[in-house]
Amino acid sequence: MTNFDRRSFLIRTVAMTSSLPFSIVRGQTTPVRVRRNVNELAVDDPIILSYKKAVEVMKARPANDPTSWIAQADIHRKLCPHSNWFFLPWHRSYLAWFEDICREAIGDESFALPYWDWTHDPQVPKHFWGDDNPLYHRRAITPHGVISDEFVGENVIKGRILATRDFEVFAGLKSTTQRAPSGAGILEGTPHNRVHTGVGGDMATSMSPLDPIFWLHHANVDRNWSIWNNLGNANTSDRAWLNASFTNNFVNRLAQPQSPRVSDLISTEHLGYRYDSSPSQPQNMPLAGLLLVPENQMVTLTNEDSAIPKAPFELALRPNSVLRGSIAQMAANFALPERQATEAIRLRLSEIEMPQDKLVTVRVFLNCNYLSVDTPLNSPSYVGSFCFFGLDHGGVVDGHGHDGEDSSQLSFVFDITKTITLLKRSGEFTDASVITVQLLVIPGTGAGTPLKVGKVTIEAASASG
Ligand code: C2O
Repeated sequence: MTNFDRRSFLIRTVAMTSSLPFSIVRGQTTPVRVRRNVNELAVDDPIILSYKKAVEVMKARPANDPTSWIAQADIHRKLCPHSNWFFLPWHRSYLAWFEDICREAIGDESFALPYWDWTHDPQVPKHFWGDDNPLYHRRAITPHGVISDEFVGENVIKGRILATRDFEVFAGLKSTTQRAPSGAGILEGTPHNRVHTGVGGDMATSMSPLDPIFWLHHANVDRNWSIWNNLGNANTSDRAWLNASFTNNFVNRLAQPQSPRVSDLISTEHLGYRYDSSPSQPQNMPLAGLLLVPENQMVTLTNEDSAIPKAPFELALRPNSVLRGSIAQMAANFALPERQATEAIRLRLSEIEMPQDKLVTVRVFLNCNYLSVDTPLNSPSYVGSFCFFGLDHGGVVDGHGHDGEDSSQLSFVFDITKTITLLKRSGEFTDASVITVQLLVIPGTGAGTPLKVGKVTIEAASASG
């Protein structure tokens, strides 16, 4: 069929099924499709067969067709935001429009993408292997290779990532530009990044959507966002987030440009889908103000030694009495049932240069006097681990940096309220007059290039008023 034929066929199809397709019109009844766990589907389940067919149809389209496989991946290379608070809504919309293109490609309006739950199945699912399989793609990982627990296991996902109440720690730091890397939240900086580089091949690059597993990986990232909301955690009400729009970033099944606003993207039901693991009743997504950090609730240390070697690296921060008081109070309140989600102690690591060894692991600890590569991750001193996703754009749009920010520098943010509480209880942290931040850099491949971290900040963030 020529492209022209396909389009005219398509318009007729759409006209006939106009009550069904994806809709972002508020108040309109939209069928809510269910995204299912791929590991609960047989290799020949109709959903898998549909996805295979969609991939084949899209791959057969010419690259200048915006609904082709290559053109869809190229949207990611050119526009995807990472390391800021647009990461989650942008990828949610990207998947929703891709899913709509899949439905048109296979002529099945009920199709929904499955998701890859790497927490419980850390291997690339069996459906994605085999030479003649359209879902196969060349990867660095093998069919039996696993993504490390340190990044995707229950302890980190449930125990730390879903446990933070702080929107910016969960989702990424505020940014006023789509691609300025203000700081990666823990969902992005920990499991998301490691799944990309751990799978390897195109998945480790900005053309990662060329690998059919990309879409199931991001469905699971998106699912974790919806789980976090369903736990009662609020997205921000900040207008700079809600009113931002991704102008002409996506296309629908007719190849027409789409410019969703973030406020259109906060409910999955509103977009016409939900996850099999989530409640079937649409939730009212709570919104809350951003937590704010007054100057006197912050202590920052600039790292004069530019490079952190493999050995543990330490920086001792000395909070003033105001910050010490807030830290003591937050730690004391932490376990109380009446604790509000209106405060958090944050640790920000910034001005980090993308290392050459992109498989490097950085473990973050506080006040640990027995730190080594063998220190267990259940130590009360352990804050979390982060890693890099080797995007080659480095946060630059069309070759220009933003807001005076050096686009080659990255930031990561953690919620250390729980770590400090645990340390206080175990007596390893008494008066908060010195907080020692320790980074353990574990090389991924080869010799392990040194990591450069320019700034370390501890801050008490709380709701104003
Ligand atoms: Cu924009 Cu997981 O990538």
